[in-house]
Amino acid sequence: MKAAQIKEYGSVENIEVVDIDVPVPDAGQVQVEVYAASLNPFDTSVREGHARQMAELTMPATLGGDIAGVVSALGEGVTAFKVGDKVYGSSQALAGNSGALAEYSVTGADSLAIAPLNVTMAEAAALPLVGVSALQAISEHLELASGKKLFIQGGSGGIGTVAIQIAKNLGAYVAASTKGAQVDYVKGFGADEVVNVDSQDYSTVLKDYDAELVLVRGEDWDKLLTVLKPGGVAVSLVGPADEALTSAHNVTVYAQGTNTNTTWLDQLRGLVEGGVVTPQVAHTYTLDQVQEAFATREGGGVSGKVVVQIKQ
Ligand SMILES: NC(=O)c1ccc[n+]([C@@H]2O[C@H](COP(=O)([O-])OP(=O)(O)OC[C@H]3O[C@@H](n4cnc5c(N)ncnc54)[C@H](OP(=O)(O)O)[C@@H]3O)[C@@H](O)[C@H]2O)c1
Repeated sequence: MKAAQIKEYGSVENIEVVDIDVPVPDAGQVQVEVYAASLNPFDTSVREGHARQMAELTMPATLGGDIAGVVSALGEGVTAFKVGDKVYGSSQALAGNSGALAEYSVTGADSLAIAPLNVTMAEAAALPLVGVSALQAISEHLELASGKKLFIQGGSGGIGTVAIQIAKNLGAYVAASTKGAQVDYVKGFGADEVVNVDSQDYSTVLKDYDAELVLVRGEDWDKLLTVLKPGGVAVSLVGPADEALTSAHNVTVYAQGTNTNTTWLDQLRGLVEGGVVTPQVAHTYTLDQVQEAFATREGGGVSGKVVVQIKQ
């Protein structure tokens, strides 16, 4: 089968499409015929070696995490799925699975769920990491309801656009920050207020927010926490805040490690089938165009997810 692999950490030029054996599922694993895989910032970190502190890849390694496809074989003890089921979820080589960007992938049964019935395979592949990240953040820590105010920093990205849709459905007032070119795209998801960071400082216009979702690395935490009211809660997908700062602002910041498991994927499926969350696919590439797919996502300014369509 064909797979997009690296032999050593590095740039997009290191990715090769090679012929390798179809992976066989161990006990507790599922083999999926992959129809589509989407790219996330984490896939770039894995390829570049920045995620090495979490785990080392065994080289050569197949890249990618998010998948959608059809169950083609079951490992011993797997009863939650049957051959032929349409599924979506995660297969990260870094987590001990075979990797997403291949014609077949093997992953833990607990990293998969039945895919939403009302979307294409490309759209299903666009959902797992960003959808679960948004849903987990909002469900575990941000008590959103009518009248509550949420600020989403980086509202134009994969997680941000799903978070806007879920938060609006819960009745929250949502402000989101983005770069200039993406303002109209973010407004399209129903955000009440969109701050263009190219021309406005969000910390001077947004005040007394109950909740905050931090999605862009490298931002000044003092500015971010100024938006919250005392007692407010933030969830960061980009690492922890300085404790002295959170105390000074009298707020709580949770650093989330997203858990793309069956339970969250099932809940996400409900939101997609219920029309609350609509997946966004900006570009699709073939497996042979995988270098271009990574380069497009890494170039920024993409309104939606970059998907590699492996089988039609
Ligand atoms: N901890 C975890 O378990 C976990 C899980 C998933 C994701 N993450 C991390 O969470 C972050 C967001 O993920 P994602 O998939 O949503 O990424 P993404 O799709 O790249 O979204 C980030 C968005 O923010 C925009 N942006 C860049 N600089 C900005 C600024 N200064 N102010 C406002 N918006 C800005 C980007 O625009 P441009 O594209 O034009 O730059 C992009 O639209 C990433 O760093 C990712 O690695 C962590």
